[in-house]
Amino acid sequence: MDATLTTPAKTRLEPTKISNETYLIHDHAGEGQGPVAVALNSMVIRGAEPVVVDTGMAENREQFLADVFSLVEPKDIRWLFISHDDVDHTGNLNALMEAAPNATVIVNWFMTERMGASLEVSPLRQRWVGDGELIDVGDRKLLTIRPPVFDAGTTRGVFDTSTGVYWASDSFAAPMITPVRNVADIDAEFWNEGMMTFNQYVAPWITLTDEAKFGATVDRIEALGASYIAGCHTPVIGRDRIDQALIATRRSPFASVQPPPDQAVLEQIQRTLLAEAA
Ligand SMILES: [Fe+2]
Ligand SMILES: [Fe+2]
Repeated sequence: MDATLTTPAKTRLEPTKISNETYLIHDHAGEGQGPVAVALNSMVIRGAEPVVVDTGMAENREQFLADVFSLVEPKDIRWLFISHDDVDHTGNLNALMEAAPNATVIVNWFMTERMGASLEVSPLRQRWVGDGELIDVGDRKLLTIRPPVFDAGTTRGVFDTSTGVYWASDSFAAPMITPVRNVADIDAEFWNEGMMTFNQYVAPWITLTDEAKFGATVDRIEALGASYIAGCHTPVIGRDRIDQALIATRRSPFASVQPPPDQAVLEQIQRTLLAEAA
């Protein structure tokens, strides 16, 4: 019997400083429940006009808000950048906007359409920004750049032109054996394989793309010359690992990867749960 199925432990990671005034807010799922854990991060840029980037899962609300407010006062938050409208990026959008009275949420038209009434923010507190636009946040400019791998057409990443940190949303996702702060703490081969696997799970359409056209989307990220890549589903990727992350992404459409867990895996989980209950 696997007692961890019902009582998973969860490692607490305090925010990680990525770069000057830039912090990764950690959360993750799967620890103690499956063979791997998956990061569910967000980010804070503490500039002249503080920016929160994505908001994590609703189930982590208390910790998310505590982590963000340990770095910036709610009234000082000026912007909330949402990369796309999936639940692991918008879980605390409304809660943060309610707690941060001076914040404007940066979304786009299609996100507001897709979120419908679940977006409880007045248009007066919204700004719509598409791919390839510059956002002036006082002491720095943020450039929106759609990442190569994404699972919603609304997606834009964001590149801080002052620190060189790129927020890649769902791109560069990879599994972790245990929660870690930096991909340098993950075995390089496991990380490489994991990223290609996750890229195909998140965006199966990449296998249908033209190699040159998909490659051009990776070139666009490479051209940024990022100092660090951060994302919702990856620990921090430092300069020494960025080249490998770009290579793995470029190869992802052509990689042979393990299929995701299927009905047989679910039945194994069900048998374990029933044995526990007996
Ligand atoms: Fe997503
Ligand atoms: Fe995501």
